Amino acid sequence: MSKVAIIGAGNVGASIASMLAFNQLCRDVVLYDIAKEVAQGKAYDIAQAASITHSSTAVHVAQDMDALQGASVVVITAGSPRKPGMSREDLLFKNASIMKSLCLDIKRVAPESIIIVVSNPLDAMVYVALQHTGFPRERVVGMAGVLDSARMAHAITEAAGFGEGQVEALVIGGHGDAMVPLPRFSTLKGVPIADILSEEALTGVVKTTQAGGARIVSLMGTSAYYAPAAAVCAMVESILKDLNRLMPCAYLLEGEYGYSDIVTGVVVALGRQGVSSHLALPLNTQERNALKESVQEVAAQIMLLNSHSLC
Ligand code: LAC
Repeated sequence: MSKVAIIGAGNVGASIASMLAFNQLCRDVVLYDIAKEVAQGKAYDIAQAASITHSSTAVHVAQDMDALQGASVVVITAGSPRKPGMSREDLLFKNASIMKSLCLDIKRVAPESIIIVVSNPLDAMVYVALQHTGFPRERVVGMAGVLDSARMAHAITEAAGFGEGQVEALVIGGHGDAMVPLPRFSTLKGVPIADILSEEALTGVVKTTQAGGARIVSLMGTSAYYAPAAAVCAMVESILKDLNRLMPCAYLLEGEYGYSDIVTGVVVALGRQGVSSHLALPLNTQERNALKESVQEVAAQIMLLNSHSLC
């Protein structure tokens, strides 16, 4: 039996539930939110939509955290969005304390589950989730690399001008301004994009990728949800079907690239047990330096959390 629990029934959580149901990726989806009526409404809406496609996936609302029992995968999208006047630090503290209380419940009701964190600031939230569940690192990953790589692939497609869906792009590092798009590991139909795009166009692709989330916020007044949800569903599918697909995910490093006790985006294989292996990228000096900068951004957040006893 496969059951996926989604915490947070906002745009991202509800989109994940609907994509899981429409693509029939599991038997049960449970949707939890402190706003119970909204979660119930969305669960009905998605379940009724899924019944039109004769999907076998059942979508339920969770009345409380106990309903997460038996979940193979728990997706955490809950968290406060950044409100006017709120600093990044305020958001960090607020979401870390939400994460902490959720994780204590997950540990109690779904101790064998695999957690996919979506809440921001992403890498720090993965670290907090690891601390408060005590789960092994293989079972706590963050969704961002798949999304950021999709944004890069789309930017390449727009710059190169061929048909959609033919680009492989890769972004590692933290899900922040210092994320590390890797043009050298990105290809169009197998051809390195540096052989196709001008240097100026490549710089544009990198910038567009890094600003991908913010661009959508400024256009819509709220964060993206279709692409984040599709990214989570790809991760869930690889886990539930034990596909071992390689995906960039936020992951606790224990020596990889020379870092320990820090979470950042690296390429891992996802299967039934969570992360089954790590693909070591042959980074050059420039790429290593970019990764260092990105890791330092996350390390500063973790230090702040530590000083406030939030992890
Ligand atoms: C974004 C959010 C989901 O990048 O982190 O759009």
